[in-house]
Amino acid sequence: MADMTVAYSPSHGLGEEQSIWFKLTPLLNQENPMQVLMALSDKYGGVVPINLKNHRIMLLSEPAHAERVLVTNADNYTKYFDGLRPIFGKSMITVDGALWQKIRAPQQPAFHPHMFEDYFPYLMSAIDSKMGRWAKFASTGETIEMVEETWTLAAEMVCKALFDREMPFNPHFVFGQVKTYTDVMNHKSLRLKSVRGELVEMTAEDAAKAMEVWGSIPETVTGAGILEHREKTLLKMLEAAEADPNFPEFDRQQVIDEMKQYLWAGTETTALTLAWSLYLLSQHPEALERIRSEARAVCGERDPVWNEVQQLSYTKMVIQETMRLFPPIWALIRIAAGDDDIEGHKIKAGDKVVILAYVMHHSPKYWDQPEKFDPERFAPERAKKRVKYSYLPFAAGKRSCIGGALSQIENTLALVQLLRRFTPEYVGPVPAKIHATVTLCPKGGLPFRIRALS
Ligand code: HEM
Repeated sequence: MADMTVAYSPSHGLGEEQSIWFKLTPLLNQENPMQVLMALSDKYGGVVPINLKNHRIMLLSEPAHAERVLVTNADNYTKYFDGLRPIFGKSMITVDGALWQKIRAPQQPAFHPHMFEDYFPYLMSAIDSKMGRWAKFASTGETIEMVEETWTLAAEMVCKALFDREMPFNPHFVFGQVKTYTDVMNHKSLRLKSVRGELVEMTAEDAAKAMEVWGSIPETVTGAGILEHREKTLLKMLEAAEADPNFPEFDRQQVIDEMKQYLWAGTETTALTLAWSLYLLSQHPEALERIRSEARAVCGERDPVWNEVQQLSYTKMVIQETMRLFPPIWALIRIAAGDDDIEGHKIKAGDKVVILAYVMHHSPKYWDQPEKFDPERFAPERAKKRVKYSYLPFAAGKRSCIGGALSQIENTLALVQLLRRFTPEYVGPVPAKIHATVTLCPKGGLPFRIRALS
């Protein structure tokens, strides 16, 4: 129970020693961490209080709990970001109340569905770069790490579509720095760490250097060559807010921190979803073939055009099912500002409340054969019967993900385009194991070989 080492994983870490992630490490470090949480939730009827010296963590796993915390009494619950502040700065994902609303307002238009058509060519262009790389991997037959591959793709999509810039940094290095930070913070008392099999000593200095690199990335992006001088981009919206004399809170640092937020929250999650979906498809070749035949039926041999994306409905269902089985954000954490009563359970001010999305997504109470990969459960007729708030990949209520719809377009296009030209063959252990930190990562990564279709 008390083995505190954490395997290599391209993920956020668990935060500082006093953070909830650190406290939950003994639970999460099990061979199968999610099974432990599911068994606990089952045993205690969906509410598991964990009493610590000076505070209490409540693990909740019923849709009604999520509804109370995220929707009907959301104002009583504030965001929790201990240990992750240097990664997200003061960006909107970390703040609450009126300030959050004020900061979100000028960015919201960048995520209106009518903007997606503008983004479409840039998403396709990022996928083209990935296909070029995969053609090389197919010829060498080398083994690649899929999460690193999908990181690059998701980061390039964000830079091109939302910031109107080429991606001017190497995501493997930069996201590796984010990971170095979280690992050091995570292991203040345990500095000897195995990174890809080698024991290295990581220090607070490493963490500080890592955050220096990370902090410099937004300026590297803004300083990179402008792609097309588009008028309506997210970056332009951020800069307009900075220039607004009526909005003194939105200073240069706010622009930088918002960009950091998008480069991490918008890429890690999208990348994990795509990587897990390729893993699932490698185990379900019939679903992979269905994606190929859907693509042929919708757009023949040519690339999709914008108004065909909505017709790629089976591909989208595969992504939705992937996020059910492997929700990138498997737990949503809040702090209770005041006392509350959730379905008869007393919550005290200061309690940390953890909504276990993973547990809900795997509960036989809400899903027929929950461990089965069955994209058809997201077909409109079946989806209608779903219990509200039992599926929370993007959270719910006003603090739900701003980029959820965009990420599904990104990943639908990526699956269709990549799978029409390549068969990614998973070469790791089956089933792949989970490493749960802030995000739900594959333990030890997801190794693949790429085969080109003739
Ligand atoms: C599969 C992909 C994604 C998943 C699973 C995901 C999941 C989530 C979740 C669960 C939250 C709420 C966290 C909480 O309440 O504690 C969130 C918030 C957020 N996400 Fe995503 N996300 C994804 C993609 C994206 C993309 C593509 C972007 C932008 C490019 C993005 C930007 C954000 C931002 C800015 C917030 C904070 C919103 C706010 O507080 O107002 N996400 N995401």
